[in-house]
Amino acid sequence: MVKMNRYLITLFTLSIIAVVNHGELAEDIIRLPSEKLDFSDDDSIGTRWAILIAGSNGYENYRHQADVCHAYQILKTGGLKEEHIVVFMYDDIAYNRYNPRQGIIINSPEGVDVYHGVPKDYTGDDVNVDNFIAVLLGDKTKVKGGSGKVVDSGPNDRIFIYYSDHGGPGVLGMPTKPYLYANDLNEALKQKHASGTFKSLVFYLEACDSGSIFEGLLPQGLNIYATTAAGPNEDSWGTYCPGKYPRPPLEYDTCIGDLYSVAWMEDCDVHNLQTETIKQQYKLVKERTSNNHYYRGSHVMQYGDLPLSTDSLYLYIGTNPANENFTFNEENSLFQSPEAVNQRDADLLHFWHKYRKAPEGSDMKTEAQKRFMEAMSHRMHVDSSIQLIGKVLFGLEKGVEVINTVRSAGKPLVDDWTCLKTFVRTFETHCGSLSQYGMKHMRAIANLCNAGVTNDQMAAASSQACTTFPSNPWSSLSSGFTA
Ligand SMILES: *[C@@H]1O[C@H](CO)[C@@H](O)[C@H](O)[C@H]1NC(C)=O
Repeated sequence: MVKMNRYLITLFTLSIIAVVNHGELAEDIIRLPSEKLDFSDDDSIGTRWAILIAGSNGYENYRHQADVCHAYQILKTGGLKEEHIVVFMYDDIAYNRYNPRQGIIINSPEGVDVYHGVPKDYTGDDVNVDNFIAVLLGDKTKVKGGSGKVVDSGPNDRIFIYYSDHGGPGVLGMPTKPYLYANDLNEALKQKHASGTFKSLVFYLEACDSGSIFEGLLPQGLNIYATTAAGPNEDSWGTYCPGKYPRPPLEYDTCIGDLYSVAWMEDCDVHNLQTETIKQQYKLVKERTSNNHYYRGSHVMQYGDLPLSTDSLYLYIGTNPANENFTFNEENSLFQSPEAVNQRDADLLHFWHKYRKAPEGSDMKTEAQKRFMEAMSHRMHVDSSIQLIGKVLFGLEKGVEVINTVRSAGKPLVDDWTCLKTFVRTFETHCGSLSQYGMKHMRAIANLCNAGVTNDQMAAASSQACTTFPSNPWSSLSSGFTA
């Protein structure tokens, strides 16, 4: 009897896969009423692997690690095995001195703890580009530190990657240096595909300008499907921020979620993912993240092999057995016009709240004020330096035009990535670190490469523009892009 059941389940699963592979009809056929089927140890669909990564640190960036912990809970409840989920998080939040609930991380106003049970695979300085790429490629010999867990996948396996962080055109943040450049990420994805060690891969990416990570860079035919929180030239948004609606519990003075991230995760929290396709979720997340097309929202994008989006989410994320009776519903019940805060301003909001709440004359008030002022002066310095370099190289009017150029859709940010990396180094040598905020200027620097500027010209212009730079932690070379 048990054997017979198992046989039927396998047949059922195979027929889903067959339908999905043929595209169009899949959505209708997968949307079955909930069946009493237990897929949990069914290996006919291969192993599900996941990499979850929060690319920032610092209490002001609480939300990225909160997102990643929440994602871990979804995958774990969904039936993925801990040994198949690789987590990268700096891990400086749960026991941070500012955290009002020690040992707990929350990702929603209701305040459910998402930190418990999250494996500490790569924490602290082990959260870095080399380890991330080695883990993706399943290369144990290249991993340094951490648990040593890698995506040791085979040809029938499916891989889910979720990255939450700050970003800029062509670059994703890391809590360590260097940051992750888009071309290196896409090269790693191509290499993973060439090694024949997955059936399909789904990538969810939250960051400012996240579309630029794949635009013109992720080719079709790799069996990779990606969605990004924002277009190539657009900010992404934090949510559940202090003083906004909906807000975190009162004792929190930092944003605890990101708009795109909570949209996909809260959708997973309540649905039967066997009956919901990636495409259905994409539509709901796109709608919710657009924030009613109010300006505090972004355009969720998709890249790569779009036909993969007819796959059920279950194939990558599993499903919570408790949701078996919740079938997919086009209504976006979670959509509630949240007030969002620009990713790049969320740290300022945090310092400001800290300042406002701290008792008059306390050390905490002085510290919060200092950090706010430092962040502001760093921003002004970086913004004006970039403008000035453009003007030195191209003259007053043309300089502004070159700096602000956005290439047409389908074109990558830059043709010569070595030039971009070199120019970033040159800039940082003369002008101090770009750091988290300065990532927004990557397009300006890329445009200098695209316009044929040489590194000698870049160096001369940078030294002319930056005769001095403010000596504060935001601009020190130690938190730069480059190693
Ligand atoms: C789903 O519905 C069936 C039939 O009403 C019920 O027996 C089952 O317990 C429900 N499952 C869950 C997880 O609530």
